[in-house]
Amino acid sequence: MAKKIHSSGFGKDFIWGVSTAAFQIEGAHDKHGKGPSIWDIFSSKKGNIRGNETAKTSCDFYHRYKEDIDLMKSLNIPNFRFSISWSRILPTGTGKINPEGIAFYNRVIDYCLELGITPWATLYHWDLPHALELKGGWTNREVLQWLEEYTKICAQSFGDRVKYWMVLNEPMVFTGGGYFLGVHAPGKKRLRNFLPAVHHAQLAQGRIGRLLRKIVPNSKVGTTFSCSYIVPKNNSQRNLRAAKRVDALLNRLFIEPVLGLGYPTKDLPILRRLKPYILPGDMEESAFQFDFIGIQNYTREVIQHNYFVPYIKAKIIEAPKRNVRTTLMDWEVYPPSIYEMIRKYDAYSNMPNIVITENGAAFHDTFTKGKIKDKNRKQYLKDHLEQVLKAKNEGLNVHGYFVWTLTDNFEWAEGYHPSFGLVHVDFKTQKRTVKKSGKWYRGFLKVT
Ligand code: FCB
Repeated sequence: MAKKIHSSGFGKDFIWGVSTAAFQIEGAHDKHGKGPSIWDIFSSKKGNIRGNETAKTSCDFYHRYKEDIDLMKSLNIPNFRFSISWSRILPTGTGKINPEGIAFYNRVIDYCLELGITPWATLYHWDLPHALELKGGWTNREVLQWLEEYTKICAQSFGDRVKYWMVLNEPMVFTGGGYFLGVHAPGKKRLRNFLPAVHHAQLAQGRIGRLLRKIVPNSKVGTTFSCSYIVPKNNSQRNLRAAKRVDALLNRLFIEPVLGLGYPTKDLPILRRLKPYILPGDMEESAFQFDFIGIQNYTREVIQHNYFVPYIKAKIIEAPKRNVRTTLMDWEVYPPSIYEMIRKYDAYSNMPNIVITENGAAFHDTFTKGKIKDKNRKQYLKDHLEQVLKAKNEGLNVHGYFVWTLTDNFEWAEGYHPSFGLVHVDFKTQKRTVKKSGKWYRGFLKVT
């Protein structure tokens, strides 16, 4: 008989939730004074998004937040991680505040609290106000002041009710995708954009963390990192070294400065080129004791040395070429990855509490007699939770888990094709249907 897994096995203090992001769910892209973000601009340009889809309406959370928070409640989900859209609060990034933006998040927060759901707010989940990108965006060091202004407004407006705050969502992904590869907004490329963006995003973590702690009484302040378990193709010295470089880039670049260890330059020499952007005192300021660190894991990557890839001289061997099980994102389904990542981060001596702030899977969903029997998603979640439990039982420092995500939504450059939700959305009618995985999560969370 298959093993049963239930939330009670993780202890009564373990934190459970779902994660979302403003741009992916809200829609209402120009309603009630909202200004454009870099993702509004990027996704409106032909060729940037699969099928040229946009998030102008998406799942219309802006108007349907009550229905979706009701759904959360019905699924026994006690914590809701969402992000605040900067250009809904400050339409041009700085200066004039949009009161309707503040009012919207007040409604969301108040409704969560009314239903007994704890709000967890991310300040920056990739949607920089377009007006700030025109001034260089993350490549401009002034981004730190812009972010401070925005943070003060959010912390002062919502901090009486929101106690859990996250500064950034996955800085590696938004600097790598948006300022080096050009596959995410704002679509910039080249090392000369990437490096300053990295340093400024890195500095933002501690600086904004301190500010939140100062303004919000009894706050729990964190920030979130993407991570993938990195394995070499084989044990040849070249592949081992290549894997080490990729690990430094994907898994260590943003967290080690926070832990006071500086950049992992020894294992990734190209990072020496960050030097011109580092001002006196920066690395001291980077070290900050967060209350928790959010780690977001979906898969592992297999790495091979490759002389032709600039700077890193390494290549990811894509999962579809490895003859392994994959999701609709072409990511390998490899549950031990999440355990390995918890173990890796736990091993740092001054690591704050770890919370898994995202994990989940995109699979093709089909209706059979009005129901979605997404066995594969349910299995994915169960298998990953078993790995989290294994880590917890071994005494590793893991304290919570959030599923990505509540409803199907706009998956960045991939558009609506990969659906990650526990709840299906018919984007023509906005009808929500709880999938089998959602019903399973409800049972898993049920307090008995
Ligand atoms: C993460 C993002 C999140 C979502 C998932 C699938 O990298 O933080 O917004 O797109 O991937």
